Amino acid sequence: MSALIPDSGPGKDLIDTRLLAVLVIDDLESAVPLAESLLAGGIQAMELTLRTPVAIEAACRIREAVPDMMLGIGTVLDTDQVDEVVKAGAAFAVSPGVNPTVIRYASAAGLPFGPGVMTPTEIDASVQEGCRLLKFFPAESSGGLAHLMNISAPYNHLGLRFIPLGGVNLGNLETYLGNDLIGAVGGSWIAPRDLILEGNWKKIESNAREARSIAG
Ligand code: 3PG
Repeated sequence: MSALIPDSGPGKDLIDTRLLAVLVIDDLESAVPLAESLLAGGIQAMELTLRTPVAIEAACRIREAVPDMMLGIGTVLDTDQVDEVVKAGAAFAVSPGVNPTVIRYASAAGLPFGPGVMTPTEIDASVQEGCRLLKFFPAESSGGLAHLMNISAPYNHLGLRFIPLGGVNLGNLETYLGNDLIGAVGGSWIAPRDLILEGNWKKIESNAREARSIAG
C-alpha cells in the first residue's frame, strides 16, 4: 500500500518540512529558477499542479535540476495522470477530492497519494483506502481549523494528519501548525502565479523565507 502516511517516507518528510508551496507553472523555462528560489528561501517541498499543459515537463526538469526539492504533484484526477506523475518521478501526489479508483491505481504504482477531504464521508472513504495523511481542501472556506477538528474527531484514534490547503496564508499558518492534527500547511501565496509569470524570483524567495521564519 502506498498511501501517503505520516510516519515514514514522503509523508514523514512532508511533516518534517512543515511547508509546501502550491505552484501553477505556465512557462517551462520558469520551472528550475522557481524551484531554486523556493529552496533558497527555505521551502523544500512543492505541490506542482497539473493545471497547465507544461506541468509534467516542468516536473521532470525540476526533478533533474533541483533534486533537493521534494516534488509533489497536485490536481491528479485520473489514472493516466498517475502514470505521468510516476514517470516524472514525483515523490507524492495529491488530489482535491477522493477518487478510490485513482487512489488504488496510485497505490499499485507505488505512488504515495493524499486525497483531499472536507467532510467525514470523505475522511471515511480515504481511511478505507489506507490513507492517513490527507489534504484538507479547501481549508479556509470550508470552516478552517474549527471545522477540521469537528470532522476529524471521530477518527482521531487512527492517527490521521492533515495538510490544509486553500486560503492558508502568513496570517493563519501558525495557528494551523500549532494543532496536532496538522502535518504541514501550504498554499499559492508563497509563489503566486503572477510572480512566477513575471519571473520575480527575488520576491518568491523572500516570501518563502518569511513563511519559513513563522513555520520554524
Ligand atoms: C490547492 O490546489 O492546493 C489550492 O488551490 C491552494 O489554495 P490557495 O491558492 O488558496 O493557496
